[in-house]
Amino acid sequence: MTFNAFLCYSPFVNHSLLEQYQKQWLWRDWNSLYAKLPNANGSLIYDLGCAHGDHSKKLSDLGANVMGLDGDDELLSYAESRCIKNARFLCCDLSNLHEMNLALADGIWMSFVAAYFSNFNSQLNKISQVLKKGGWLATTEMSGLFDHGPLEKKYQDYISKFYAHSFQSNGYDFKSGSKLANVLSSNGFEIKEMMFLQDKELSFQGAADESIVTAWENRLERMVGLKRFMGDDYPGLQKALIQCFRSDNHQSKCKVYFYLAFKK
Ligand SMILES: C[S@@+](CC[C@H](N)C(=O)[O-])C[C@H]1O[C@@H](n2cnc3c(N)ncnc32)[C@H](O)[C@@H]1O
Repeated sequence: MTFNAFLCYSPFVNHSLLEQYQKQWLWRDWNSLYAKLPNANGSLIYDLGCAHGDHSKKLSDLGANVMGLDGDDELLSYAESRCIKNARFLCCDLSNLHEMNLALADGIWMSFVAAYFSNFNSQLNKISQVLKKGGWLATTEMSGLFDHGPLEKKYQDYISKFYAHSFQSNGYDFKSGSKLANVLSSNGFEIKEMMFLQDKELSFQGAADESIVTAWENRLERMVGLKRFMGDDYPGLQKALIQCFRSDNHQSKCKVYFYLAFKK
């Protein structure tokens, strides 16, 4: 199932998408975020946008009863095949979460999912309806996926225009991470922790190692929305970004935000 015209994945890359997601775990300092969570032992936790289940596994290892929800049935089949202790998986569109008669959760984990909702304010209202009063929401999201330099002005301008185009077309919100604090507060959440996730793929300085460069090559291949938006200029951007990631002068302005917030 595809939710987003701007990040939509070609059916031909689905298998490699799983492989690419699997590699990402080691590039992000997830333990620093999990250390901030309340004791999860015995809690009911929803892993929204669980994909292939790495976070569901981690939450299960912390003693939680986990329900992983995602709309990608292939990734979910893989998650199910892992037989993760005390974890169940459900294929659904998260836009309908509030209508699914789910038990109220003690906690909700949601990483790299908020940006799929250009109106995350209204989505968070739905999410809040499946969370207990006093329950926690741990959400991680980035801002500025392509904000890497040095990059020719022509490409920087394309990227800014694409961000705006994607947002205005109810597509992916490339600035979602920077908006989370306001959206959480306006939906009745009290923020207890905020930090930036250390991330070797999205938010790093200097030259990337070859595994990260390959991940970016793959990511740029599956960005069909950006490809369509830029037309004949897209290969030039791909080349320029890859050159930039290989450069010792590479600078990233992309930030990965993490919030732990409680429902008041
Ligand atoms: C970038 S992945 C993040 C996976 C994982 N949470 C992580 O942090 O690595 C986003 C996931 O959200 C799912 N997703 C996005 N929009 C969705 C929607 N409206 N309903 C269900 N799943 C959705 C996608 O299928 C995908 O598996």
